[in-house]
Amino acid sequence: MATPTAEREQWGSRLGFVLAAAGSAIGLGNIWRFPFKAGENGGAAFVIIYLICIAFICLPYLFAELALGRNSQKNPVGAIAAIRKKTPWTLVGGLCVLTGVFILSYYGVVAGWAFGYIFKGFVAPAVESSEYFSSFIADTAVVLPLFALFMLLTISVVYGGVEKGIERWAKVLMPILLTLMFVVIIRAVTLPGAGAGLDFYLNPDFSKIDGTVVLEALGQAFFSLSLGMGAMITYGSYLPKRENLLVSGGYVALFDTGIALLAGLMIFPAVFAMGQDPSEGAALVFVVLPNVFDAMPLGTLIGAVFFILLSIAALTSTVSLLEVVVSYFVDETTWSRKQSVWLVGGFTFLVGLPSALSQGGSDLLTNQISLFGQTGFLNIMDYIWGNLALALGALLLSIFVAWVWGTRQAVEELQIGADGMFSGTLVSVWTFFLKFVCPLVIAIIFGAIALGVI
Ligand code: PFF
Repeated sequence: MATPTAEREQWGSRLGFVLAAAGSAIGLGNIWRFPFKAGENGGAAFVIIYLICIAFICLPYLFAELALGRNSQKNPVGAIAAIRKKTPWTLVGGLCVLTGVFILSYYGVVAGWAFGYIFKGFVAPAVESSEYFSSFIADTAVVLPLFALFMLLTISVVYGGVEKGIERWAKVLMPILLTLMFVVIIRAVTLPGAGAGLDFYLNPDFSKIDGTVVLEALGQAFFSLSLGMGAMITYGSYLPKRENLLVSGGYVALFDTGIALLAGLMIFPAVFAMGQDPSEGAALVFVVLPNVFDAMPLGTLIGAVFFILLSIAALTSTVSLLEVVVSYFVDETTWSRKQSVWLVGGFTFLVGLPSALSQGGSDLLTNQISLFGQTGFLNIMDYIWGNLALALGALLLSIFVAWVWGTRQAVEELQIGADGMFSGTLVSVWTFFLKFVCPLVIAIIFGAIALGVI
């Protein structure tokens, strides 16, 4: 073991951990994926189902990942091995690490687009948005340097370590993100005609809800909270014993949900005010919104602000994806953090190349490759790693914590630092959810994703 537990890095403060973990959770998932999923699935009705999923499935599961991480003080592979040595369960940790590499490989590509779009309003004002977007993402000479730049930004944050890199930057970036979001929200809700968007977003139409909507909401909730691939095990492993996991985890879920809700408030009023379609799917942020910005007063500036905030949100998430993999190499091999960061970051860039070329850069990767009903390399990667692998990881990890490690041990870990707050009925309720409700519901999503229902 290269780094003995005693020397393991730790967060400098509770605020630092909460901002870093919320930074991991808040990302493209909240600002890009959540609004378009809500837009496609009936607005407010989807939002309500999403909130129920967060409260009853994701929150109990989040505590399990945090408890496992802090108890073992290890990366996902080490954490599992610390509890069951040399069993096939360690493979679940391996799945987490692989998922980290693969999600980062295409997430970094999309983050690079967001970064490039900061400048769009200045270099290509009033160009037809959908054409601009298709030619932008197909242009290898633009997309590859942006992807490389985003990976370098991610590498340079993780390079600094837990407290001096990840925590320090989270403390700087997260307040900026919030402030910029408020700027855009105020602009959006004060546009004439914004009310229809608010109505769509806030008035539920329950006739829109069916099984697929529920499964979509649950899948989105897991992705959004960075669950199912050990990110919270890893971030939890840097927490000291005095920390109250319930309170800190609760804040993380609250911030993540709050930002997703605010993202809807930022996007729908503007989309309706400018007469655009809210159910445009993945194109909402890159096509519909730029149209909206082009048409509104101060639009170029607000557009730039929007894509700066999207890039910041993405960066604090790519940092956590890289950290999961780096922590594995630092704990389990003789590599130093600095070596691991460069090697893993560079390798992930190579793995991401086909995704970067799959939007028109290469016809083979764009149109000729299909799997699981998805066409194009990036979409296939998102389906396999962002949907399937996360659901499988969450299923296996919840079974591991509840049934192999045991809820009694997990409860004891959660009670440390909790000042008596975690006792009595709360413990029974949590135990019941983790043992029965979470695995069952996650198994249903996994089955549904695997069968292609969602
Ligand atoms: N939670 C991130 C988002 O909503 O964009 C995505 C993500 C980050 C998923 C880190 C998983 C992860 F480990």
